[in-house]
Amino acid sequence: MSSASLLADLHAAAPLVGPSLLACDFANLEHEIRCVEAAGARLLHLDVMDGHFVPNISIGIPVVEAVRRVTELPLDVHLMISEPGRYLNAFREAGADLITVHVETLPEPRETLAEIRSLGAAAGISLNPPTPVADVQDYLEYCDLVLVMSVMPGFGGQEFDPVAIDKLQRLRDLAGPDVLLSVDGGIDHDTVGPCAQAGADLLVAGSAVFSTNDYRRTIEELTSRARSCRDVQV
Ligand code: DX5
Ligand code: ZN
Repeated sequence: MSSASLLADLHAAAPLVGPSLLACDFANLEHEIRCVEAAGARLLHLDVMDGHFVPNISIGIPVVEAVRRVTELPLDVHLMISEPGRYLNAFREAGADLITVHVETLPEPRETLAEIRSLGAAAGISLNPPTPVADVQDYLEYCDLVLVMSVMPGFGGQEFDPVAIDKLQRLRDLAGPDVLLSVDGGIDHDTVGPCAQAGADLLVAGSAVFSTNDYRRTIEELTSRARSCRDVQV
């Protein structure tokens, strides 16, 4: 699928929940993917950590490649790594449809985002909770997605930081409707609605989905809460 049709599909489906595989049972990765597919997931969020930009190590290129072999769902690859520019081609080759890099890691964000697009992937930029919106503001026209972190990246299961709500609202105004807004960290039944109301299109959820027994019911409940808040005036 081309990047343009992927983005059109995601915009049309928004607000939607993106299960983050970080919280799944990695010993049964293919089974977990089949289960979230059957539960109605429209994409998979994959968290790549390097033990340098963030204090944890998770998955890398071979795992993205393995996931690609067992699903046709779009892969939303979140690079929490230093010097992401060195690995863009490898992640694209491995099957990433959407590649998000952290503004905190980029000396030249425009170049990196342009390179992601030139590889045929959708380009995302992310900002950590302490990073101001002003740090990404100049790059919005080079982005297909902005990922607002609502926890310090590195671990699943952390508490949602409400600073993300204000950032989503500001980015929604600044970025216009063509940029997808995503939020990641601590998304659950209580936080999904306020995020959607503030303008989030894609709600990344790890533990809220994978800690339950019924993925379909959880994804449906989270999506329905997001939808019901979506059009409420902020
Ligand atoms: C955190 C990751 C998240 C993580 C979210 O560094 O970027 O995608 O999986 O996990 P939960 O939903 O459990 O906060
Ligand atoms: Zn993530």
